[in-house]
Amino acid sequence: MNKLINILVLPGDGVGPEVISEAVKVINAISTIYNISLDINYGDFGGVAFDKHGSPLPDETRNKIIQSDAVLLGAVGGPKYDDLPKLNKPESGLLKLRKENNLFVNIRPIISFIELVNTSSIKKEYIENLDIVIIRELVSGLYFGEPRGFNKDKTEAFNTMRYTRSEIDRITGYAFKISQRRSKKLHSIDKANVLEVSQLWRSAVDEFSKNYEDVELHHMYVDNAAMQLVQNPKQFDVILTENLFGDILSDIASVLTGSIGMLPSASLNDKGFGVYEPIHGSAPDIADKNIVNPIATILSVAMLFEFTIERKDIYDHILEAVRRVLKSNKFTKDIASSDNYISTSDMGDNIVDKIKEIAHEKKI
Ligand code: IPM
Ligand code: MN
Repeated sequence: MNKLINILVLPGDGVGPEVISEAVKVINAISTIYNISLDINYGDFGGVAFDKHGSPLPDETRNKIIQSDAVLLGAVGGPKYDDLPKLNKPESGLLKLRKENNLFVNIRPIISFIELVNTSSIKKEYIENLDIVIIRELVSGLYFGEPRGFNKDKTEAFNTMRYTRSEIDRITGYAFKISQRRSKKLHSIDKANVLEVSQLWRSAVDEFSKNYEDVELHHMYVDNAAMQLVQNPKQFDVILTENLFGDILSDIASVLTGSIGMLPSASLNDKGFGVYEPIHGSAPDIADKNIVNPIATILSVAMLFEFTIERKDIYDHILEAVRRVLKSNKFTKDIASSDNYISTSDMGDNIVDKIKEIAHEKKI
């Protein structure tokens, strides 16, 4: 069966359009090699959408999302939009996109490439062959809890960390299943020594673990986890955590890989729909210079093939192509150890060449 897959591409702001162009090259190469029928559409999202339509997530884009099987997103935000009212900010478009589509699972693989061990500020022996996955709850917690806001004269502000038992259960179930397919070790990160939400979280996770006796479960406080992630990262395999803790821990974990420019992500709901995006932001300071690293977005494309199209073999193919490019000593500025680096578009072209080379070798 060769079902047509609809991919909606939302380049967004800052470096978003540049990384997206390279990722689309990869999508096109893969669809030719594997003879997969793909339909690629584009939509406005983030600051550019606000400029054009007065909203970071316009209805036109919402409708395109409904018609798509997967969304590939660049990045949103920039100084130009910092003073907008909250609802018009690019970031609130992103949060709405996550919430409206119930993308409660956020998967953030932390994979260290051997060629980059010297780029990280952490010593080599701690990060060689590292392979961690952070499972971050994405549509609840402090990011969305009510009540929230300011008091009348803005001398006080408040947010609410709130989780229901069922919100904890569904992300926990996902994390245990992933653990079973990996090395059966799960760290649940919370702050149960202080927060009631974390106490509920911990007891829900404990209850769940009774049905997954083959998975070794550890609970860890978030402050300790932040330290352990850099002190002894190899103790982790799957990390399960709530929204804000996951946001912070994934940036810390990016240091282990050498650059945040290497980290992809997938955000999924329970209907098989996914949004794929690099973890890095819009990086306005380096936008339009053809120097941003497109690998995070290209690996997000790999995740799209793995999760939406259920082709783990294609994920592996793209990952191997990235490895080969790094092995040939080609690096973008963020991961280069000298002034000798290649541009964003050259990195994309090199990865596409390696994708073709691998296809040729494997006679695909
Ligand atoms: C991320 C980002 C977002 C978040 C921002 C841009 C709203 O930092 O995806 O990690 O905090 O979730
Ligand atoms: Mn973040």
